[in-house]
Amino acid sequence: MNNLFKYENAIRIGIGIVLITIASNLSLWWIFPVGLLMIYTGVSSHCPIYAALNINEEQALENYYLSQLPKYNPEPMFLFDKEGKLKFTNIGNSSSLKDKIDIKSVLNPLKPEECIYSEINHLQSYESDGQNYMVHFKCVKDIDSILAYAFNATDLVKLQDEIISTQKEIVYKMGEIGETRSKETGNHVKRVAEYSYLLAKLSGFSEEEAELLKMASPMHDIGKVGIPDSVLKKPGKLDEDEWQIMKTHAQIGFELLQHSQRPILKAASIVAYEHHEKWDGSGYPNSKRGEEIHIYGRITAVADVFDALGSERIYKEAWKLERILELFSEQSNKHFDPRLIELFFTNIDAFLTIKEQYKD
Ligand SMILES: [Fe+2]
Ligand SMILES: [Fe+2]
Repeated sequence: MNNLFKYENAIRIGIGIVLITIASNLSLWWIFPVGLLMIYTGVSSHCPIYAALNINEEQALENYYLSQLPKYNPEPMFLFDKEGKLKFTNIGNSSSLKDKIDIKSVLNPLKPEECIYSEINHLQSYESDGQNYMVHFKCVKDIDSILAYAFNATDLVKLQDEIISTQKEIVYKMGEIGETRSKETGNHVKRVAEYSYLLAKLSGFSEEEAELLKMASPMHDIGKVGIPDSVLKKPGKLDEDEWQIMKTHAQIGFELLQHSQRPILKAASIVAYEHHEKWDGSGYPNSKRGEEIHIYGRITAVADVFDALGSERIYKEAWKLERILELFSEQSNKHFDPRLIELFFTNIDAFLTIKEQYKD
């Protein structure tokens, strides 16, 4: 068992060589075996005298545990040199994770020393053999290497997926509640979600943020739960007072959701609040104009109106596509953000595919 401190082997070998040199020069032959013993203990990193007298016992145990750790570590671990070559792994060839690890992305090809001599901490996720791993890269100056410790996060990822799909389901259900109150169909919220996602991606949103809006936009009319039936279900046209009541659904939706700390519900509160604002400032509830209106609100407005006009309702026929497009180009810069309308027109086929996919 290695019971020497870090630099002790080198010192012992050095002393051993000096002793042997002295022994042979001065013919002091009794020193010779002492020199040999020093060299032997230095090379083997183990001193039998220390062991017999329990000197460095703690150090010996620490060295022993460290030497066993990689072999028995249940999670994969890797050791790379600063050129990115694998020096050691405890997983053999059994796992494809070994080939998937992207060590090049951790190394700076122009300045490899930057990785080795600074405190770089990288965390990357990988999928391998049906398992999800988080891999923590750490540059270790002492051994001039990059250590990569993998952590099997499959259960955590499953749990997170479960939480997200539960949230999605609740969000759709809440959206449907809002829409059933106003006699819309369940697929309306699904289409609004898809149109919003598409517009978000076209506007340059990251995948994550586009997904967030996709989940939040179905709740745009959740505030209608607070509108009395006498107004909401009135068969004819609303009078001025009733219309004022109807308009409060934006404020109600916002108030229902605004205090949530969940990102989806926070986004939904913005959507609920601003989906009836208009680019030219003629919308409600705050007559916001242009980019004062949150992009979530501007996107959902396009998605919601496009779907509402194209769908059949008890009180109206579905509009023909040409008529909708005519209205959209006429309302660009008035009701809608002109940049979004441009994106909408250039990608109209993708919108029509969604319409077909989720038809009632
Ligand atoms: Fe609305
Ligand atoms: Fe709607």
